[in-house]
Amino acid sequence: MSATGHTVLVGVTGSIAAYKAADIVSQLVKRGCNVHVILTQSAAQFVTPLTFLTLSKNPVVTTSFSAETDWKPVHIDLADRASLLLIAPATANIIAELAHGSASHPLTEIALATRAPLLIAPAMNGKMWEHAATQHNVALLRSRGAEFIGPDSGMLACGYEGAGRMSEPSAIVERASALLASR
Ligand SMILES: Cc1cc2nc3c(=O)[nH]c(=O)nc-3n(C[C@H](O)[C@H](O)[C@H](O)COP(=O)(O)O)c2cc1C
Repeated sequence: MSATGHTVLVGVTGSIAAYKAADIVSQLVKRGCNVHVILTQSAAQFVTPLTFLTLSKNPVVTTSFSAETDWKPVHIDLADRASLLLIAPATANIIAELAHGSASHPLTEIALATRAPLLIAPAMNGKMWEHAATQHNVALLRSRGAEFIGPDSGMLACGYEGAGRMSEPSAIVERASALLASR
């Protein structure tokens, strides 16, 4: 089966690479995916819900506590319907929250509630990526079945060079599509 028809949840977190998530969402929609975007509060400092509402043609989740039109909480509804949870870009913070099972906002709630595969595309300063705490959190998540794509090496927005660049949107979409095709 191809990516077509699958529900893909795209979590966007507070990295300067958040603008690249718009391209990822656009490419997934063009491949026939039903995309729902979840923005953390930090992500919304970098990119607006309107961008993702327009590209995905679905409401964007920014809070767990909006007025519901359905009895089912939105994070459970999305978690149940997902074929894939993709987090791109993923901050050091979200990786730590996921590793430790935090459930303090919609994205972490969904990550706990879904049984869909988890694909994580980190983006951060190279020292944050290499820090023992981050590497420990990455290893924990991998041991539970999460898959990581990147980060790539190169010039980082923070002025440093090294590992920490989010992988290219096209590479992330390719990997997401391959995971969907195997479901
Ligand atoms: C301009 C700017 C760029 C940032 N870029 C990153 C980044 O690429 N990766 C990262 O882990 N944190 C980055 N941060 C810090 C995060 O936004 C911060 O840790 C935040 O708490 C993350 O929240 P979230 O994981 O809920 O989205 C950046 C902060 C600022 C002000």
